[in-house]
Amino acid sequence: MKVVVANWKMNLSISSSSDLAKKVSDFHSKHEMQSEVILCPSFTALDRVASVIKDTTVKLGAQDCSPEQQGSRTGEISADMIIDSGCEYVILGHSERRQNNGETDIDIRRKVKMAHMMGLKIILCVGETEEEKSEMLTLETIQRQITTIIPEGAVLAENIMIAYEPVWAIGSGATPTPAEVSEIGEFCRGIFATRFSFEKNVKFLYGGSVKDSNCASLLRSDFVDGVLVGGASLEFDGFSKILTIAEESCKQS
Ligand code: PGA
Repeated sequence: MKVVVANWKMNLSISSSSDLAKKVSDFHSKHEMQSEVILCPSFTALDRVASVIKDTTVKLGAQDCSPEQQGSRTGEISADMIIDSGCEYVILGHSERRQNNGETDIDIRRKVKMAHMMGLKIILCVGETEEEKSEMLTLETIQRQITTIIPEGAVLAENIMIAYEPVWAIGSGATPTPAEVSEIGEFCRGIFATRFSFEKNVKFLYGGSVKDSNCASLLRSDFVDGVLVGGASLEFDGFSKILTIAEESCKQS
């Protein structure tokens, strides 16, 4: 089964989010799709999107959560509040939060622990910057991020997915080759097998300039369980094509 995550970032009003969610969930059920689709709207739209996709096969995720459980944290949203809004998933460690909000691996580790403790499933973003890539530090960066962020023994394999998102590929139109993505997927499996003694159930997604024109080749690899889509998830026509391609690769695998 393939996974398609839509990260709507800081886009779409509540009503546009609900409209798009309705179109996506109707499409998913009409075509009896087996792929797992997770919509991640902004916090303000979660509740409304949750009611639109209630009783459908489409799932809901948030784009972040606080490392704290509750209390005096002005402006923060807790894992519990996200669950209360209907979410099953949360994206953590997105590079835009690292860059714009100064999040470190240690901060993200605290969020992962809290989200997991409260019962959310985690989509953990990892990936190298352009500079790290040019210094041939891609594998080292990913290994450091995964081993620092995921607390050993504390997270169940089925409750976490890795989204490999090279920072230089996000919103840029550039992507690594499918072979490179596959190699990173295999590398991540190795890390899980040796360090966390769980290999089987950790899903590996690719994100960064995913479009209908490039996702078939990315999804073809046995190591790639799905895609995390930003810009191309914001309008139905392109996104429904991605869903169709993911579905075709579900059937082939
Ligand atoms: P993009 O964003 O598809 O617009 O590159 C992906 C992401 O940042 O998750």
